[in-house]
This record gives sequence, C-alpha cells and structure tokens, in this order.
Amino acid sequence: MIGSLLGNVSQRAKSLLYRVSLVMKPQVVFVLGGPGAGKGTQCSKIVENYNYTHLSAGDLLRAERSREESEFGQLIDNYIKEGKIVPVEITINLLRKAMEETMKKDDNKFRFLIDGFPRNEDNLTGWDTVMVDKADVKFVLFFDCSNEVCIDRCLERGKSSGRTDDNRESLEKRIQTYLQSTRPIIELYEKHGKVRTVDASRSLEKVFADVKVVLDKEG
Ligand code: ADP
Ligand code: C5P
Ligand code: MG
Repeated sequence: MIGSLLGNVSQRAKSLLYRVSLVMKPQVVFVLGGPGAGKGTQCSKIVENYNYTHLSAGDLLRAERSREESEFGQLIDNYIKEGKIVPVEITINLLRKAMEETMKKDDNKFRFLIDGFPRNEDNLTGWDTVMVDKADVKFVLFFDCSNEVCIDRCLERGKSSGRTDDNRESLEKRIQTYLQSTRPIIELYEKHGKVRTVDASRSLEKVFADVKVVLDKEG
C-alpha cells in the first residue's frame, strides 16, 4: 500500500519534471574567436566542469560531409577547404537537430555552448529566423588571439588533425573570412554588451581560469 503510494508520488514528480523541462528554453552561449584560438579546447574544459553541452558548428559540418546519404557532402568539402562559411540553411538544421536530440535524451541538458557560430551575417539571419523564439542567447564568449598565434596553432594541429583546412593556403583564407565576416558579428554583440572577452593567447590553464570567472558569474 505504502509502496504503491510512493510509486504514485514519484510518478507524479517525474511527470512534473517532464512538464517543467518542456517549458525550459535552451540557454545558449555562442563561442567565437579566430581559427585555432582554442574554442574547442576550452569548450571541452567547460563541459568537464559545468553542465553544458558542446556543439561545434565545424564538427557538425564535418560529420555531415562524411555522412554517406548527405546531399551536401561535396558543397561542405569545398567551403571548408576555401575557408568560406557554408550557407546557414545547412548549419542551422544541424544545430537545431543536435540541440533537440540532446534535450530529448536528457531533460536536464538545456545549456549549450555553440562553438563557431554565428560566423557571418547569413549565420546570424538564420539563427534569428529559426531559433530566436526557441532559445535564449546569454552571451558571446570571445577567445581573443592574434592571427599569428592562431595560424601557428592550426599548423601545429595540422600535423595530426587530418583536417583539409589546417594548411597555410586554407588558413590565409580562414583568417580573411574571420576578419571580414566574423569580427563584425562580434562587434555587433559588443554594442549590446553581450561579449565576454578572454585573452586566449596564454596557456590553456590561464585561459580556463578566466573562463571560469565568466561562467561562475554568469552561469
Ligand atoms: P579552435 O577550436 O578555436 O579552432 P582548438 O581548440 O582546436 O581551436 O585549438 C587549436 C590548437 O591549438 C589545438 O592543437 C590545441 O591543442 C592547441 N591549443 C588550444 N589552446 C591552446 C593554448 N591555450 N595554448 C597553446 N595551444 C593551445
Ligand atoms: O570552427 P571550425 O574551425 O571547426 O570550422 C571549420 C570550417 O567549417 C570553417 O572554416 C567553415 O568553412 C566551416 N564552418 C561554417 N560555418 C560555421 C562554422 C564552420 O561554414 N558556422
Ligand atoms: Mg574548433
């Protein structure tokens, strides 16, 4: 008797939690910075220490490029080698699906680090069209790093990454894209007081110490 009462209570608690989670809007931190600034490295550290899920737009695009049935494989491959930004219709769908799947698996996973997005105006428009009502952007975590350090880190990574764009030729194009298309997006968020800047040229540990200060303050 008591057992079945307790069972009922726990069943009701579970269903209440489920309903709360349905109204829980995803909380998003956009993670930006030049190629090789350390976005992915720092996101992994954040995931180890905080309740965030890391979604890298670049990783999602590379996975889509490798998916056999994908109609976008060749297009993504060309864009990545050329250091250009893939049309947002493709990227936003990958991000949306990844967010939905994460939340479906675990109600408690509604905090996301979206790494390498929005990288240009097209990305931003795509987010505003598809996601603006579905998620809250808390702030932009900006890893500030000189172009020289970025290039050196990517060339070093290129020795083992197998990436088609970690070579000098692609990197020059990626830096141009970053300066021409991504910096203005960061500046736009800056105007709205939404950018938290970390000096990313230092050691991994020092960078993460600053990241922690930001996250401990802002959740
Ligand atoms: P991003 O995702 O911004 O392109 P990554 O996190 O992949 O950058 O880092 C690029 C390369 O630089 C990797 O090989 C990584 O191990 C290295 N790296 C990352 N952070 C640092 C750091 N603070 N100091 C030195 N090397 C770093
Ligand atoms: O962030 P990452 O260095 O992994 O991105 C690699 C490449 O993926 C970019 O240079 C670009 O070609 C593509 N990309 C994109 N749109 C994004 C993120 C990445 O087209 N929002
Ligand atoms: Mg990365």
